[in-house]
Amino acid sequence: MVKRTNRRWVIASRPTGDIVPENFRWVEEPAPTPGEGQFLVHNLWFSFDPTQRYMLGWGNVPDSESGGIPIGDVMSTIAVGEVVESRHPGFQPGDLVHGHMGWEDYTVTDGQAFTPTFRIPKGASPSWALGALGITGIVAYFGVYETARAKPGETFVLSSAAGGVGSLAAQYAKGLGLRVIGITGSAAKCQWLTEEAGIDAAINYRTEDIGKRLTELSPDGIDIYFDNDGGSVLDLMLERLRPNGRVVLCGATPRYRANPPPAGPSNYLALVMINGRMEGLLGRDFIPRYDEMVRVVLPMLQSGRLKSKEDVLEGLRNAPTAMIRQFRGENLGKQLLRLDAPLST
Ligand SMILES: NC(=O)c1ccc[n+]([C@@H]2O[C@H](COP(=O)([O-])OP(=O)(O)OC[C@H]3O[C@@H](n4cnc5c(N)ncnc54)[C@H](OP(=O)(O)O)[C@@H]3O)[C@@H](O)[C@H]2O)c1
Repeated sequence: MVKRTNRRWVIASRPTGDIVPENFRWVEEPAPTPGEGQFLVHNLWFSFDPTQRYMLGWGNVPDSESGGIPIGDVMSTIAVGEVVESRHPGFQPGDLVHGHMGWEDYTVTDGQAFTPTFRIPKGASPSWALGALGITGIVAYFGVYETARAKPGETFVLSSAAGGVGSLAAQYAKGLGLRVIGITGSAAKCQWLTEEAGIDAAINYRTEDIGKRLTELSPDGIDIYFDNDGGSVLDLMLERLRPNGRVVLCGATPRYRANPPPAGPSNYLALVMINGRMEGLLGRDFIPRYDEMVRVVLPMLQSGRLKSKEDVLEGLRNAPTAMIRQFRGENLGKQLLRLDAPLST
């Protein structure tokens, strides 16, 4: 029988504001063995998503509704890995999979966790399964094509435009023939959006006045706002929506660290006068349509028509660093971590 050491990051304390490295503790233990109906995954790549902040919970009580994790348990993540042992009829050793795992070398799962386990589509690079072909991609794809009800010629604005979800949503909207304006936090991100992703304009909120710039770029208002901010930017967009304008509520990264959360948008009544709509987008609801998305998106990735922008850190030791840098806005594209343990250590 193979003896495997499982290096893991467990939760040491709950953040009270910004996440700090001391919120996590490094432990080394023997790897678990799968029980009946379970399989053992050797993790190869981790995805980072601001929503993981919720899993760290508030105060001493984890929020079970959002997958809160008890102190001492391994930090949750969506990961890509290889099945190395299986007592599950649907998965065999050698299968490359993606799904809900932990910040550790080896995870035992029954494949039915918060995010179910899938095989990586044939012809896909493993990291794509965490980006355009993962939950990140599901949100961007169905958010633009369905929730936003986007139509060619409309003006589409999005925040966190150069992140994992944003970098894809921006390209989908542009590909559909919309005029796309991205809001983001650095000159390098703006440059990538306009020069690589090919959108029409980008606004650096750290150096520019968003409202003033938007008035210059789109004096008659906007049709769709894809929101990853949830704060003052949402308020600014509400007052610029044209008749029948839509807001897609995807995320609210700055709010995730605030306890208690700040008051909601004050301009929401603007929706009344324009017959506007603000709609929540939950990626998990679209999981049953995963194959449908893959059939469209995989060829786009393979041909290079859709750019998969990835920001990769190396090594399990760097998992807390990757999470912290995403909350500092340091990632350009999808924040990933490639693990470093050889198989069967
Ligand atoms: N609804 C769903 O089912 C679902 C699923 C997945 C993700 N999401 C949400 O989608 C959003 C984007 O997720 P992602 O994984 O693609 O992350 P991401 O955009 O790659 O990374 C987070 C970005 O948020 C911005 N940010 C970080 N801290 C901030 C702060 N304090 N104030 C303002 N901006 C800050 C930074 O971008 P800038 O430099 O551009 O500001 C940072 O790069 C998140 O809110 C996430 O929770 C929703």
